[in-house]
Amino acid sequence: MTTIKHTTTLTQRPAWQALEHHYREHKDIHLRKLFADDPRRGERLTVEAAGLYFDYSKNRITEETVRLLVRLAEECGLPERIEAMFRGDKINLTENRSVLHVALRAPRNRQILVDGVDVVPQVHGVLDRMALFSDQIRTGQWTGYTGKRIRNVINIGIGGSDLGPAMAYEALRHYSERDLTFRFIANVDGTDFEEATRDLDAEETLFIVSSKTFTTLETMTNAHIARVWCLRKLGHEAAVARHFVAVSTNAEEVSKFGIDTANMFGFWDWVGGRYSMDSAIGLSTMIAIGPENFRALLAGFHAIDEHFRTAPLEKNLPVLMGLLTIWYNNFFGAQTVAVLPYDQYLKRFPAYLQQLTMESNGKRVTFEGVHVDYQTSPIYWGEPGTNGQHSFYQLIHQGTKLIPCDFIGFCRSLNPLGNHHDILMANLFAQSEALAFGKPASDVQAEGSPDWLVPHRTFGGNRPSSTILAERLTPETLGKLVALYEHSVFTQGVIWNIDSFDQWGVELGKVLAKQIIPELESASEPQPRHDSSTNALIRRYRMLR
Ligand code: F6P
Repeated sequence: MTTIKHTTTLTQRPAWQALEHHYREHKDIHLRKLFADDPRRGERLTVEAAGLYFDYSKNRITEETVRLLVRLAEECGLPERIEAMFRGDKINLTENRSVLHVALRAPRNRQILVDGVDVVPQVHGVLDRMALFSDQIRTGQWTGYTGKRIRNVINIGIGGSDLGPAMAYEALRHYSERDLTFRFIANVDGTDFEEATRDLDAEETLFIVSSKTFTTLETMTNAHIARVWCLRKLGHEAAVARHFVAVSTNAEEVSKFGIDTANMFGFWDWVGGRYSMDSAIGLSTMIAIGPENFRALLAGFHAIDEHFRTAPLEKNLPVLMGLLTIWYNNFFGAQTVAVLPYDQYLKRFPAYLQQLTMESNGKRVTFEGVHVDYQTSPIYWGEPGTNGQHSFYQLIHQGTKLIPCDFIGFCRSLNPLGNHHDILMANLFAQSEALAFGKPASDVQAEGSPDWLVPHRTFGGNRPSSTILAERLTPETLGKLVALYEHSVFTQGVIWNIDSFDQWGVELGKVLAKQIIPELESASEPQPRHDSSTNALIRRYRMLR
């Protein structure tokens, strides 16, 4: 059992105070100077882990900054907290749970104990069942109620039970079984359901109802309508068993819904929703890419887990990523981080990261329940390159806000087409170069620009970025990328002394929505009992619905 002893508040720690001093001394140093003073900076400030190359040289740091940040991590007990997580300690204190997504990708021969029970055999037991089922769908051995082959797989889930599978399907589409159609229904908006099903034949459609709790309003509403949709065509209750499977930790609710628990793939309360894409929640991913590729994905996760657990902090890629976020967030006052993947397949990656990062670290009290006197999670956002360049990059280059960027690129394209890939990657390299070094007024003048236009055409530079470069987007690489961010989030949470694994902030809205639903549906027009704004909105809605 971990006890988290933070007798000193973060801002009083010696390393924090040293960082504040260091920040004041160094905040105006330009990347141009840092690079000019050290011609090998671009090679030195890099780390390679499990085949991922991480260039952090274009950050506004010196070696002293890294040394101090690492000292801060040590003072906050990061190494001990990493060990505690991997050991299965109940580090999610507010929910009294272990946090063991790392067990989901542990090899068969590992032992990880939760309450004295080794969970690794259970993990592999579920993976084996998933593999069997995936193969049955992929080969056509599993048929629908009328004997037709399953051609459409629809995942119904929300949050972690949707974003991971939806992102992974897009990211690994290249490896997917193209004869199968995959769709994802999340929103409790009839449009999401209608548009996902309108051109599909129920006889050929399998629904995977994915919900850790199996009580989530959106998911259960969609799952019930899916059953109606299915039975309207197939006529008989018995069809449910051939067209519905469940992924959940809650066997009781699954069976109440009418899904045979033989068709349920389980996971455990020590897997957080936003950390679950590599659990049974990844069933749609496994059906799409096949069990072997899914295992490669897990191997990628595991490679970074091992790196995170064993590499010294100053050479530890997720630790460095996390500490850089602390540097900009807490010292420079940056409020956001842009994640910019130069790969179309990663178009859902920023959306996936939003839940991972912000649901984890969007907290305002410490473990001890004390209000923090420092900033916690920045806002993560992004779009794939080069699209973002023609949209919001203007602000990153010349706006008034400091936006640290993570560029992600691959050396080989999965779809080599003419010189597309060179153009794509040239843009990535050009953007990080332009952000760091800018274009001084003297250069603009030398080009003959009229004086009045010079300020508009000048780029100040000194805008920080890191670049993650990998050889190719494979299932394994995707696992590595996700694990990087998972552990970077963990690192940040440890420094901020917050519980990165609960999400109490989503509860209030859920409770209020449940109260309001009958008020919207009631024929007798009861007087809504809210504030004047909410009452007026409800009345107007009732009038016009
Ligand atoms: O409301 C937030 C949340 O609890 C997320 O943390 C979770 O990923 C999502 O809802 C879905 O929950 P479930 O998998 O239990 O349906």
